[in-house]
Amino acid sequence: MKKVCIIGASGKLGRYMVQHALDRGYQVVAVCRQQSVSKLSDFNKKITIFPGATNDREVIKQAVSGCGGVLTVLVPWGIQQYSSGTAQAVLDFAEPGARLIFSCGWHISRDGKDVYSWTFKAMVNLMGKLARLIRVIELDDQVEACRRVFESETRWTVVRGSDLEEGESQGLPVWSRHVGDPILKSNLTRRIDFALFMVDAMERDELIHEAPAIVGCKSPSALENN
Ligand SMILES: NC(=O)c1ccc[n+]([C@@H]2O[C@H](COP(=O)([O-])OP(=O)(O)OC[C@H]3O[C@@H](n4cnc5c(N)ncnc54)[C@H](OP(=O)(O)O)[C@@H]3O)[C@@H](O)[C@H]2O)c1
Repeated sequence: MKKVCIIGASGKLGRYMVQHALDRGYQVVAVCRQQSVSKLSDFNKKITIFPGATNDREVIKQAVSGCGGVLTVLVPWGIQQYSSGTAQAVLDFAEPGARLIFSCGWHISRDGKDVYSWTFKAMVNLMGKLARLIRVIELDDQVEACRRVFESETRWTVVRGSDLEEGESQGLPVWSRHVGDPILKSNLTRRIDFALFMVDAMERDELIHEAPAIVGCKSPSALENN
């Protein structure tokens, strides 16, 4: 795998992923909105940029061509099926056999066996309704995007991030299949390490068809339970 595509590369998670991918010697193709191209100026000349919305099927088709890995930041912006449109384009146009890694949060459940605290459930419910009401975010569409990925026969991994914080890398996060497992209790990961997990997952076959919920490797719950 020499060439990888990062979709949503100009965001915080995306830029960390670009750096990790370059550090590992990958050739990087990036997709980001036209108005955000300047946010990738640090990587000038080191990466190839395809400007466009991440749910623009023609942009995605061109960007993922020849890529052995595709790292996709799934975000539910607007009431426009942004997440599901992005995921569907990646599923439709990625090279056969490519490793596809998608980001989302703990609120996504693959098999319904995650155990959430009532505060977490209340927060997701409230945020989802409020955001939809003011037409900013369509949380349900991120759920739909992941449902399509889970049903796909591609070589996918859906990485479910905990709450995030900034800071220097602590190393590769630990993971569990289900939210509610004691190892995840701290519910905090450095964003730079979320990105590291996404990039690292491309080379980890044991993560194919898994939806790992992650937490920082130095968080108290990880240290206590590892
Ligand atoms: N934030 C958290 O606490 C948290 C927790 C768990 C999981 N996650 C997951 O982590 C991933 C990254 O999330 P993040 O919060 O850290 O944000 P982020 O990395 O900064 O990414 C935000 C993305 O959304 C795009 N975006 C912003 N406004 C937009 C708009 N109006 N229309 C279309 N795209 C727009 C950004 O593109 P531009 O650069 O073009 O603006 C960027 O690609 C997501 O998959 C999220 O579900 C986040």
